[in-house]
Amino acid sequence: MTTPPRLTDLHPDPDDITGDVLRGLSSTPRRLPSKYFYDRRGSELFEAITRQPEYYLTRIELALLAGRGPGIAAAVGPRVHVVEYGSGSGRKTRLLLEALDDPVAWTPIEISRSALVASATRLQREFGDIEVLPVLADFTRPVPLPRPSRAAASALVFFPGSTLGNFGHLESSRLLAAMRDTMGPGGAALVGIDLVKDPSIIEAAYNDAAGVTADFTLNLLRRLNRDVGSDFDLDGFAHRARYVEPESRVVTTLVSLRDQLVTVAGRGFRFAAGEELHVEQSRKYTDAAFGALAAEAGLRIAHAWNDPRDWFGLRLLRRA
Ligand code: AVI
Repeated sequence: MTTPPRLTDLHPDPDDITGDVLRGLSSTPRRLPSKYFYDRRGSELFEAITRQPEYYLTRIELALLAGRGPGIAAAVGPRVHVVEYGSGSGRKTRLLLEALDDPVAWTPIEISRSALVASATRLQREFGDIEVLPVLADFTRPVPLPRPSRAAASALVFFPGSTLGNFGHLESSRLLAAMRDTMGPGGAALVGIDLVKDPSIIEAAYNDAAGVTADFTLNLLRRLNRDVGSDFDLDGFAHRARYVEPESRVVTTLVSLRDQLVTVAGRGFRFAAGEELHVEQSRKYTDAAFGALAAEAGLRIAHAWNDPRDWFGLRLLRRA
């Protein structure tokens, strides 16, 4: 029997979901943080989104990790300590670890203990010779890394999926600055970014014909009804996602289908018919915009890998 992975608990502040929701509903325009999409059902729906024909992001990123593995490994160098932001995306983690030259350890950083333990246990079972050192922490802040028993040459932060694009400009620049700290002087980061392209392709990805993305968006209200004690009527709101070209981002909202009153943790919020509640943004990058964002955080793009259509890219960042 294998021993469970040794977990480092940095005691991250727990989410204040009720406070965040009340603050978001009191702001103009109204907004809800997209991080609350991912309860159990939300995570399953997101997995289903990644299998929709219109949602190209995951498919292309997996193909890049599979097809460009040797180039990535050469650029990264041998014996790295892989530090993944989030609890590990399974298929992507596997492809990266298989591609790299003798990786020493894998550290998922995650704020949810149950998700962290589940992914760490799964990966430890699969990759017996890679030390699994999970850290319970908030990766938007610098994270001191556990020391693997076999010395690593450097750290490689892995942040796939264009999840960076779900953060606002200031937040994403701060996150990259924290990443710079976490990776250390000789370290690097491998970041997945969705690229600017024909708006119709982007809009289709967030409005799949099967309606999975719409279910995913509406599930946020179901989750709040359960965890915050609200009474959102799921039939009273509709998913809307549009690409705002001048801002290079998809803005996803829930549109109120009628005048209605919603009660959240004992407080009433009136929604007008047609009023939009902002729930997510998904930034798309040009090379220039991503280079400028990285530079703001003291990072430079050391290597870039795109698919042949330049729809999605992996960027290797190092300290500037
Ligand atoms: C997790 N994140 C990068 C996804 C995205 O594309 O912004 C979440 C998502 N929302 C709707 N579809 C997918």
